[in-house]
Amino acid sequence: MAKVYAIVNAKGGVAKTTSTINIGYALYKLGKKVLLIDLDAQANLTSTVGVKTNELLNISDALIDGCKITDIVHNVSGVDLVNSGRTLIEREHTISNSVTGAVKLKSLLKKIKDGYDYVLIDCPPSLGIYTVSALVACNSVYIPMVAEPYAWDGLSRLLETISIIKDEEINPSIELGGLFFTNNSKNAQTILGKTIIMEAKKQLGDKVLKTTIRTNVSLNESIAVKKNIYDYAPESNGAKDYMRLTKEIINN
Ligand SMILES: Nc1ncnc2c1ncn2[C@@H]1O[C@H](COP(=O)(O)OP(=O)(O)O)[C@@H](O)[C@H]1O
Ligand SMILES: [Mg+2]
Repeated sequence: MAKVYAIVNAKGGVAKTTSTINIGYALYKLGKKVLLIDLDAQANLTSTVGVKTNELLNISDALIDGCKITDIVHNVSGVDLVNSGRTLIEREHTISNSVTGAVKLKSLLKKIKDGYDYVLIDCPPSLGIYTVSALVACNSVYIPMVAEPYAWDGLSRLLETISIIKDEEINPSIELGGLFFTNNSKNAQTILGKTIIMEAKKQLGDKVLKTTIRTNVSLNESIAVKKNIYDYAPESNGAKDYMRLTKEIINN
């Protein structure tokens, strides 16, 4: 049975998309069948994986029954992707107010997830309907975090939302898989950075993963040239760190 992981943080720029693509391709390197789902209207994951979004159907069409989920699965270099697109924004209200609302993604996934070992969902930088849909559909939540000012803003609300979804039995088996620090080299050396990391360990104990992702220019460049790190710079620290993180996650 596929494990479904939501990559969530209400803050933007914390490497949600970078982590989704590179954990995804690390899993593929480990011989796993992987599906990536882009739930962010900015479609960074979609374009980085190499799917052009302009005139395509996207996940919002499937969420309003305008197409089948299988119509928007693209195989790119061994990994499957369900693409996103701009219409996610304008349809947010319609989807929020429909009877199936935040449960629709889960029911769409049910139709295809048995074909995979892992499904990774890249969430938008908010706690709106799409992120909640991912929390309803997933087994575990992974939170990338940068040890910089305001890193904790929004995190308590996210943890609270996960608790509500669990306690109200909307998704009773949801669990926090872990939090990991990304883009870490510079920030982790500052007093503020160290304080944030200490605070995370105090509050979340061993849910703070041992692997941190170092700041790595190849990771930054790989996104710019629309490649995963294993195709762009397989010997880079970024490739090594994401492989270590992926192994830690699957052995969790
Ligand atoms: N470890 C890293 N080292 C260097 N740059 C990184 C690293 N992780 C992410 N980035 C860069 O940070 C920016 C934001 O990352 P992104 O994955 O788009 O964040 P999010 O999806 O959370 O908004 C991107 O330009 C990305 O290339
Ligand atoms: Mg993103």
